[in-house]
Amino acid sequence: KKVHYYDFILRETNFTKLCRTKSILTVNDSFPGPVIRVHKGDTVFVNVHNNGTYGVTIHWHGVKQPRNPWFDGPENITQCPIQPGSSFTQKVILSTEEGTIWWHAHSDWTRATVHGAFIILPANGTSYPFPDPDGEKTIVIGEWFKGDVMEIIKEALESGAEVNTSDAFTINGQPGDLHHCSNETIYRFFVDYGKTYLFRIINAAMNEEQFFGIAQHNLTVVGSDAAYIKPISTTDYIMITPGQTMDVLVTANQSPDFYYIASTPFVDGQAEFNNSTTTAILQYNGNYNPSSPIPFPSLPSYNDSTAAENFRKLLRSLASEAHPINVPLNITRSIYMTISVNQIYCENASCAGPDGNKLSASLTNISFQTPSIDILQAYYKTLPHVFTKDFPDEPPDYFNFTADHVPDYTNFPTLGTKVIVLDYNESVEIVWQGTNVNSGENHPMHLHGFSFYVVGTGSGNFDNKTDPKNYNLSDPPEVNTIGVPKNGWLAMRFLADNPGVWYMHCHLERHSSWGMSTVVIVKNGSTEDTSILPPPKHMPPCS
Ligand code: C2O
Ligand code: CU
Repeated sequence: KKVHYYDFILRETNFTKLCRTKSILTVNDSFPGPVIRVHKGDTVFVNVHNNGTYGVTIHWHGVKQPRNPWFDGPENITQCPIQPGSSFTQKVILSTEEGTIWWHAHSDWTRATVHGAFIILPANGTSYPFPDPDGEKTIVIGEWFKGDVMEIIKEALESGAEVNTSDAFTINGQPGDLHHCSNETIYRFFVDYGKTYLFRIINAAMNEEQFFGIAQHNLTVVGSDAAYIKPISTTDYIMITPGQTMDVLVTANQSPDFYYIASTPFVDGQAEFNNSTTTAILQYNGNYNPSSPIPFPSLPSYNDSTAAENFRKLLRSLASEAHPINVPLNITRSIYMTISVNQIYCENASCAGPDGNKLSASLTNISFQTPSIDILQAYYKTLPHVFTKDFPDEPPDYFNFTADHVPDYTNFPTLGTKVIVLDYNESVEIVWQGTNVNSGENHPMHLHGFSFYVVGTGSGNFDNKTDPKNYNLSDPPEVNTIGVPKNGWLAMRFLADNPGVWYMHCHLERHSSWGMSTVVIVKNGSTEDTSILPPPKHMPPCS
């Protein structure tokens, strides 16, 4: 097992896209940022140096960081931001992860431009559970805002209005040739006829789930969120939520030509959505005249929930001898939690959200308020008045969460910094229940510090008598982020064997900004090696 060192220099750099030059915060001047490439079980030290103009934190999305919450990154959850002019060396401890994950800023909305791939190859002496690919490509789907992202979210939170959508989605930083001034810069993936490539696809977009495809080429999905799955062959699209990754084999077996790669939003919560498709080109090497028009993939339409669910239901763990699974069977703690986009009252009744109120969001009707010092520090040093441990209450059982009309009180959540506290090694089941408040939509829920097994899902309200009978306990997918269906539910399980303070939130950035989040604290076990590691000498100071 190896130790690797990376330097991340955060600084403003100029980029020109959509006919306009602006300065964005980058890592090492690149967008998307640098790739971390290591083997399973390695340790990585990243020296993060902030040469920008405001405080930032960095998170290793999908890394479990066993007993090591100190370097996980979410702002005011596990640390205070790294201030301009200072650095913080983060120790990233890999354990069971194998495949593709990513890293991103986890403060304000800086992750829009501060993110990159985190590739974990099989440990030395082991191999992929599929034939070695001839080559490898990384695809990072992002979003480009013409305006300043920090301003966009600040204004939206102040006015209470819906957050402005971005101006383009991007593939490896490029909007693609369906956008103005983007013809020449379209991203090209060069391939040789007859060869098979491993595409590592990351959805780093801020707010939209995506349908993705390559014209006339089958996608064979072999991994997701740094865990192997039973190969899903011959699918012509995937659905990938912000936060998710998919490892996909593509064989260049069509006649040598140019083929469009396209990614288009899946947005089931809105009547219409007009941010357009981003494109790239799969280009065969050789001498030939490319067809005109270039073949384009056919993708589901923006609100096709059925297509999204159909794809998600195909995900199953590989569950082989070399890659066994470990689903908890005897649950000691079960948690039922509702997910809603709501409103909060506007003091002067002239906010720009629905009915003059402000938009907000909640889990079990608590809209999470991020404290001004980090919860990890408050927990570790037992500082009072930072958070409370009373989450979640059972939602009232007379309540029909997915009915057309939902009781009014659900529209107005309570503000609070409430966390879930688990004993070490509890076998946990969480059922996330989508609600019809504000008509509902698919929410990509993400948990730090763990991967979890998706054991069941369905439409309407969860029924704890009948639904568990249909759980998949033999090969449920092991993920760190999963879309909870609109007006439906999803059940997941994990073993609480990682003591620490772990953020849980919707990975649609506007929803987490509105309060669709909570924290899971896992207590120490009874021995030193089942307890949180000692803190580093210097954490970034809280002001
Ligand atoms: Cu991708 Cu809380 O993070
Ligand atoms: Cu959401």
